[in-house]
Amino acid sequence: MSIIHTRAFAKLNLTLDVLGLRHDGYHELRTVMQSVSLTDEIRLETGTGGPIQVRSNLACLPAGEDNLAAAAALRLCQAAGVDCGGLTIFIEKQIPVCAGLGGGSSDAAAVLRALNRLLDLRLPWARLAEIGQKVGSDVPYCVLGGTALAEGRGEILTPLNTIPHCWAVVCKPAFSISTPELFGRIDCGCIRSRPDTGGITAALKAGDLPGTARRICNVFEEVLPLRHRDAVAAIKAVLLERGALGAGMSGTGPAVFGLFDRKEDAEQAGLELHKTYEETYLAETIGAAGELDFY
Ligand code: C5P
Repeated sequence: MSIIHTRAFAKLNLTLDVLGLRHDGYHELRTVMQSVSLTDEIRLETGTGGPIQVRSNLACLPAGEDNLAAAAALRLCQAAGVDCGGLTIFIEKQIPVCAGLGGGSSDAAAVLRALNRLLDLRLPWARLAEIGQKVGSDVPYCVLGGTALAEGRGEILTPLNTIPHCWAVVCKPAFSISTPELFGRIDCGCIRSRPDTGGITAALKAGDLPGTARRICNVFEEVLPLRHRDAVAAIKAVLLERGALGAGMSGTGPAVFGLFDRKEDAEQAGLELHKTYEETYLAETIGAAGELDFY
């Protein structure tokens, strides 16, 4: 039996733009993503003899191949033509689920990276990303991590200059939003305020944290049902009042985040939000998985 431990990082969408509907039913995206230190801890055990199983501290996670982590393991073994003699994936979940933080996708990406190492497959990250694309649109980015632009369905990745180190307060209100439903509410011809992707890319290149944070923008905020829009706006207001350099919703929500250059401000904002929202976390930005030697 072989065992490996790894971590899966939450992602934030610093910007998220929807450009149009594709022929395959998905949408054409343009999004700048960032990994943060809010993590799930993962342990993989090969040679268990049984089918791929997922165990977790969170009882609601699927235990079989409908879990993205298991689906990723299966696809990797098929693609590489290997049999790991049974696999159990243990996930200690801390990233809020159904939140827009890419938790399931990140678990899948972490499994791809870890199995690649454990089975000594030596596949490059781009190949892992290609395999991950079949599991979910955010998986390719999660394989790469760090600061990156994702386009197409999410699989066309351009690494960007790493964001200057900063603190992120991540707050998930206690409701969930259906991703397909929110995509269904987007009318690309009627979006009033689109992200300045060129501007944020230039700000990142200049190492300009305020300029980066000021450009946080997510088109899905415009199409939220009214009651959710108010809740998201209220969280953003607290973050900005408490010194966030910028704030916005991540993915299709409902998690909202703010970026801070001062840790004390982030801590105070987190404490304030935690009074109302139990799922409030303090995290910091992190670099690409390759830089952190996760291959
Ligand atoms: O790829 P994934 O399974 O994560 O996507 C979840 C849902 O999000 C899809 O079923 C689709 O409704 C929507 N989506 C989309 N266009 C994308 C990514 C996701 O319409 N580029």
